[in-house]
Amino acid sequence: MDTKHYGAGYLQDTGDFLKQLKMHSYSPFETIIEGVVADLGCGTGIDAVNLANRLGSAVQVVGVDHDATLIDHAKSASKGISNVSFIRGEVYQLDFKDESVSGVRMERLVQHLTAPQDMFREVYRVLRKGQPLVIVETIWNSLTFYTQHVAIEAKICHYLTAEKVNNGWAGNKLTTDLLANGFQEVQLQTFNMVTRSREEASRYLFLDKILLEMFEKGKLSQAEYDNFQLALNQLDESGCFLVSMNLVIAQAKK
Ligand SMILES: C[S@@+](CC[C@H](N)C(=O)[O-])C[C@H]1O[C@@H](n2cnc3c(N)ncnc32)[C@H](O)[C@@H]1O
Repeated sequence: MDTKHYGAGYLQDTGDFLKQLKMHSYSPFETIIEGVVADLGCGTGIDAVNLANRLGSAVQVVGVDHDATLIDHAKSASKGISNVSFIRGEVYQLDFKDESVSGVRMERLVQHLTAPQDMFREVYRVLRKGQPLVIVETIWNSLTFYTQHVAIEAKICHYLTAEKVNNGWAGNKLTTDLLANGFQEVQLQTFNMVTRSREEASRYLFLDKILLEMFEKGKLSQAEYDNFQLALNQLDESGCFLVSMNLVIAQAKK
């Protein structure tokens, strides 16, 4: 499952769109004055670079991702910034010694993992006691289209959370997962992401691709597909289009 729709261009686009959320996610690291901070599943490295600039040269920010193309992109985009580096690797086996890392951040990573508990254990291993972990996740089942077709909307949420995304309920389960893996002082904050046109919803949420994929896989009938498209087009043309979804920031300490 989990056919990858995102590439470097998408991650840059969503990076701009989610700017405020990203800024909030950096604040638990602001008291760190030295050592290593890791951004896991770093993609094109936007957050690693932002953190490196924000935390100063005594803090080394290390981005980790298993996608070679994204790591190459991150390396060339960060040339000249001395306190950021990128490693290609799996988050299940981090190249850090026990209790050697001063902070760990990850954004929209846990939803893609097939063995999330292995990653939580690994993060617990490498993080120093009392130091922060920040996780940004999508709440896929909060996706709302504001149409009369509530049954179709429910099918789309179900498809995303239970079928399309490897670990589609990841965001909903963060508190439990963090506490079960020994983390403390868990706090959640939610953010509402809004798109106001079909074009935006397709760009940031892959709406058109997902609807077509569901139709082609028989998850939506021809009538459901047509009726939903009609409703979305009418809302778009009348300027009433709105698709929203929540994201959560979980912060905790080891
Ligand atoms: C939706 S992207 C988010 C990228 C970045 N955090 C951001 O906010 O722009 C998810 C990232 O996690 C990476 N990823 C997924 N599974 C991984 C794993 N097992 N180990 C390392 N990286 C992984 C993907 O390659 C991708 O770059």
